[in-house]
Amino acid sequence: MNLLFVASECAPFVKTGGLADVIGAVPKALGAQGASVRVLIPAYPALASVVEGAREVLRFDDLFGGPARVVAAHAEGLDMLLLVAPHLYDRAGSIYLGPDGQDWPDNDLRFAALSLAGARVAVDGIEGWQPDVINAHDWQAGLVPAYLRQMDNATPVVMTIHNIAFQGLFDATRLAALGLRSDLFTPEGIEYYGRIGFLKAGLALSDKITTVSPTYAAELLTPEFGMGLEGLLASRQGDLVGILNGIDLDAWNPATDGDLVANYTTEALDGKAANKAEIQSRFALSPGNGPLFCVVSRLTSQKGLDMLLDCLPGLVEQGGRLALLGSGEPGLERAFVEATRQFPGAVGCIIGYDEALSHLLQGGSDAILIPSRFEPCGLTQLYGLRYGTLPVVARTGGLADTVIDANEAALLAGCATGVQFAPVTSTMLGHAIARTCALYAQSDTWTGMMRRAMGHPVGWDLSAAAYLDVYRSALQRQG
Ligand code: ADP
Ligand code: GLC
Repeated sequence: MNLLFVASECAPFVKTGGLADVIGAVPKALGAQGASVRVLIPAYPALASVVEGAREVLRFDDLFGGPARVVAAHAEGLDMLLLVAPHLYDRAGSIYLGPDGQDWPDNDLRFAALSLAGARVAVDGIEGWQPDVINAHDWQAGLVPAYLRQMDNATPVVMTIHNIAFQGLFDATRLAALGLRSDLFTPEGIEYYGRIGFLKAGLALSDKITTVSPTYAAELLTPEFGMGLEGLLASRQGDLVGILNGIDLDAWNPATDGDLVANYTTEALDGKAANKAEIQSRFALSPGNGPLFCVVSRLTSQKGLDMLLDCLPGLVEQGGRLALLGSGEPGLERAFVEATRQFPGAVGCIIGYDEALSHLLQGGSDAILIPSRFEPCGLTQLYGLRYGTLPVVARTGGLADTVIDANEAALLAGCATGVQFAPVTSTMLGHAIARTCALYAQSDTWTGMMRRAMGHPVGWDLSAAAYLDVYRSALQRQG
């Protein structure tokens, strides 16, 4: 089966969050199960060296304001297609935001171009290859089925929701600029309460819809989590499937990870102590009697870290330590920097984005805190499991589906891998931290949980097979 992935980021080339990790990993797992996958992303400046050695496979005289081309290259184990359009993507800084911290003003054109190029790959084919199915990821690829319709092409599209909080809404006056036909601007098509909805278009016009965990698939049907799209999703419930994310077991392996000071395995856990010492030194932390908690996260209200601020006095009082790596909302960044002054030696934070340091934190911490208000899947708890860094998580979305809470029954049955809490409030997070400290004090119980967590299956095999089922049913539907 030939599959085209269309997305706005892909690890290890360009990453702002979990979407990139997923786009960089699933194609390999699908490939291992016999599929031929190509991944189309924009050629941001970070891709310059890949573009250099690539072959041109498609050309556009004018793609929303300038010439553009699609080039093909095999890089990092992936068959990449890169949309080279300097007028849209050749910019320093963040791939989504300008220097003022606001979305680039032409983000509609930038990602409409990506979707349009995806549709063209399907229609024209490249080097004799044509996709049987297109998997469009998040709002940036949401217009793929709209452009396919305009081109009278019936290639099936599977739309994957990684995060419904980002919907790609733009003013209706942009319709012509985006090359969209006005007959698609209806409630059954791309119109969303008088505006153009990129994700809405993808959900309304695709053949199948997936999201990244079974619990989030159910949550999306409620007003609290559906963020306005719950009605549309309910009408398409029969086509909506939740498939858990996995992780790249080669990139994230404590036995071989080059970003760790010391490697370790389930049998020989000692290396973790050297990594912990390195974290203590990098974050200016003194050793404590309690667990070393870490956070690796975007700092946004989704992630619930404002609740963690409320819990810091209790965490520190119980001998816990916190090392936080994150960036995002300036108010949250400031608050965590301030907390390092309030709790010197007990709370450390590094504001920024640092891939290598994120590995070290997984490799040396005892527990990872993820108090998200909503979490479509979440990957850091999966990295935590793999590294024996026990996840302390809000019981929502993919966090609920991947961590087994250390309640009495689970401890007796010997299956606990972390701590869950609900409802998602500061008070319950505080209880979860206290429970974690108590478990940590029972070192045999804790070590048992670490070993179990490290053995928990977090690879892509099962989920890749589930994606293939969805692609097959999308194909059958068209047939
Ligand atoms: P989301 O995609 O909502 O941000 P996920 O848990 O799915 O959440 O994925 C986040 C990814 O980004 C993980 O790979 C995590 O390690 C990484 N990450 C988040 N913040 C940082 C940071 N400040 N530095 C390095 N990696 C980070
Ligand atoms: C989104 C979600 C996160 C998920 C990731 C990859 O960024 O916020 O929960 O793990 O996409 O699917």
